[in-house]
Amino acid sequence: MLQDKPHRLVVRVGDTVRRPRQPWSAGVHELLLHLESIGFRPAPRFLGIDEQGREILSYVDGESGAAGWAKVVEDDGLIAMARLLRDYHEAVRGFRPTPGAGWAGRTEPPRADEVICHGDFGPWNLVWHGSRPVGVLDWDYAWPARPIQDVAYALEYVAPFRDDETCVRWLAFPEPPDRRRRLELFAEAYGLGSTDGLVDEVIGQQEAVWERARLLAGRGHQPQAEWQATGFLDTTADRIRWSRAHRHLFEA
Ligand SMILES: Nc1ncnc2c1ncn2[C@@H]1O[C@H](COP(=O)(O)OP(=O)(O)O)[C@@H](O)[C@H]1O
Ligand SMILES: [Mg+2]
Repeated sequence: MLQDKPHRLVVRVGDTVRRPRQPWSAGVHELLLHLESIGFRPAPRFLGIDEQGREILSYVDGESGAAGWAKVVEDDGLIAMARLLRDYHEAVRGFRPTPGAGWAGRTEPPRADEVICHGDFGPWNLVWHGSRPVGVLDWDYAWPARPIQDVAYALEYVAPFRDDETCVRWLAFPEPPDRRRRLELFAEAYGLGSTDGLVDEVIGQQEAVWERARLLAGRGHQPQAEWQATGFLDTTADRIRWSRAHRHLFEA
């Protein structure tokens, strides 16, 4: 068993992984088939639906989940993660989903300045070989967004937009990190010419993700409904407040 959250059992079967489908999975499967067709290797391949109605994905060997946090503490892992995100955005640029394909919390197709972003690009959803990220998992939250929104999402977690105690206690930092330096390093490795406006993008993305979680919770979708019931969604509001109050840690 790879994941035993109450609502979502993810299991390995031989060289495959079986995951419960989402109401919008058809679009995600189309995306994975596109990535396979153009040879973007880090994404698992979509292999069909099994007899229990679960999606079948190829198994990507390596370390994933909570092991990912420690991988981005050092510069090499952080830089490699940013480059992988850029590679993904290049790979997805030519993808135009079938009109009507739904996405998590969004039904309209991508606008001209949008691509299908991964939507949950954190170190825990990558597969690592040492400090090299070789796989990108967990495509359920892919949605039309501007590529910079995936950058902003990742930065929340890897710069990170968290207090010193959280960094040291939970995110594997030996000491409080130089957040501005890390944000700049990530932005440069991704290929941004400037970090202007990036902190606002992070805050905007925190709000967008929060909105989406509330929308899904309102539809009774799990785990978002549980996040709302247990008050976890309110901690997101605290995180947004923290980002606003500490922007000086990220800006020159
Ligand atoms: N295709 C895959 N190859 C290898 N491991 C996988 C794969 N898909 C999921 N996993 C493992 O299962 C865990 C949970 O799966 P994930 O797709 O991230 O679902 P979620 O986080 O939504 O429960 C991952 O952190 C990873 O360890
Ligand atoms: Mg995951």
